[in-house]
Amino acid sequence: MKKILVLDGPNINLLGLREKNIYGKRDFASLCTYVKEEAAKLGLQVEIMQSNHEGEIVDAIQKAYGVYDGIVINPAALTHYSIAVLDALKAVSIPVIEVHLSNIYAREEFRHKSVTASACIGQICGFGFTGYALALRAMVEYEAE
Ligand code: DQA
Repeated sequence: MKKILVLDGPNINLLGLREKNIYGKRDFASLCTYVKEEAAKLGLQVEIMQSNHEGEIVDAIQKAYGVYDGIVINPAALTHYSIAVLDALKAVSIPVIEVHLSNIYAREEFRHKSVTASACIGQICGFGFTGYALALRAMVEYEAE
């Protein structure tokens, strides 16, 4: 059974409160329930972690080495500027899929650039919670070269 770490960055804990027109009405607890249910359907073991702190996200990525078979990450705002998260993802060389709830390419220009995506197998954005399920599905199929 593949073990997947689902990592959420700053302000994802405020789902249901923040910009509901963009991120929807469902809260972070609902996202966690959704992710666990989808993982169970796919036969994946999943751990979920959220932090508002860049260093904690970096620590979580480093600790994932040798423990998890894949990382599904929504780096949130860190997507757009964190070289530290990029370097951590590259260092552990675990398959990573980047997820965004919103379509970052249809929003402000500063959100069009992901500095973390180059360390990922691929990116899924614009599908809300469904993006996490799509990423988990892709993890099932993914075979390292
Ligand atoms: C986000 C998009 C980011 O631009 C933003 O900073 C977030 C959430 C998303 O899931 O759509 O916090 O990653």
